[in-house]
Amino acid sequence: MTLRLSLRRAPSGLALALALAGAPPLLADGGEEQIEQGSAAYAELCSGCHANAARIVRRVEGGTDAERGGRLDSFLKEHHAPDDAQRAALIAYLLSL
Ligand code: HEC
Repeated sequence: MTLRLSLRRAPSGLALALALAGAPPLLADGGEEQIEQGSAAYAELCSGCHANAARIVRRVEGGTDAERGGRLDSFLKEHHAPDDAQRAALIAYLLSL
């Protein structure tokens, strides 16, 4: 019984390790679904002025994703992304690039 339980946990542990290692970028942050939503929101709200999302996110200061995410959050609130859920998805997407 104990053995079965630990075997059943193994795959999610592996997925987490891969995500932490940065292997699949889509799993690295807020989850694949949120990142997809952020990507769609970017296309809708941002891409008209910023063709290249990766380039713009590189200009955001901060040593960690948490710092850059915090900056993006307060900046984007006043910059074309007032909706909280949409902004969170956008930030997950931008930090995944
Ligand atoms: C109407 C055009 C327009 C839209 C739409 C727009 N931006 Fe911008 N954005 C700009 C301009 C112009 C600047 C540079 C001047 C400034 O800081 O306001 C800028 C600056 C930025 C910066 C700061 C870059 C730096 O130099 O630090 C980020 C990050 C950013 N935009 C992200 C976004 C995101 C994400 C969206 C979508 C929610 C978005 N923008 C929508 C025009 C736009």
